[in-house]
Amino acid sequence: MGGLLSDAVRVDLAPGAVHLAHYLSLSRQRALIDQCRTLLDGDVPAYVPTVRGGGKMHVRMLCLGRHWNGQTYRYESTRSDFDGRPAPPLPDEFRTLASELAQAAGMTLTADLCILNYYDAEGRMGLHQDKDESEASLAAGLPVVSVSLGDAARFLFGGTKRREPVTAFRLESGDGFVFGGPSRLRYHGVSRIVPGTAPPELGMSGRFNLTLRQYDVET
Ligand code: SIN
Ligand code: MN
Repeated sequence: MGGLLSDAVRVDLAPGAVHLAHYLSLSRQRALIDQCRTLLDGDVPAYVPTVRGGGKMHVRMLCLGRHWNGQTYRYESTRSDFDGRPAPPLPDEFRTLASELAQAAGMTLTADLCILNYYDAEGRMGLHQDKDESEASLAAGLPVVSVSLGDAARFLFGGTKRREPVTAFRLESGDGFVFGGPSRLRYHGVSRIVPGTAPPELGMSGRFNLTLRQYDVET
């Protein structure tokens, strides 16, 4: 595994929930950051979604492969809640990265979409479940593979019911986090970004997070 650092640490938080700390080398992080920047400011740029209740999210979002509509909480091929443009394709590198991290966590994933978010110093995301992928995908427990780049986040991870206790830990630059199987529908969120914690070699502030998912299950 090319980018697995010698100090990578696997922490099993719950069955199906694996934190792959220090997984990506700085050079892999740098390449991904360049790709994220290009995508976020590309022809079909990232935007700040307005969700169902009318509130704005606290991230800049760009969906690749499929678009997640913040009004309907459904996936679609074009951004009907924003500018009607088609979601850009999922880059092959992202699909390969998702398979690699899923495998490192003992799972499998053939990602067909990515939600790419940029958090500035004020960025955050409330506690929620990822449950908008197909019923078959959720039932199979196909994981969500998350990759963090830049400033650290205080990540919240709870149970499958909102009321259950939540643990908090840091997701740092280069970390993977994989949640599938019995953990697929656990609540999670980002309570805050920790400014100034990105490795200086990356020359960035704020945080990119990629969540790679598989909407469709081949039958
Ligand atoms: C998400 O839950 O969609 C994003 C999580 C993160 O930014 O780590
Ligand atoms: Mn989520």
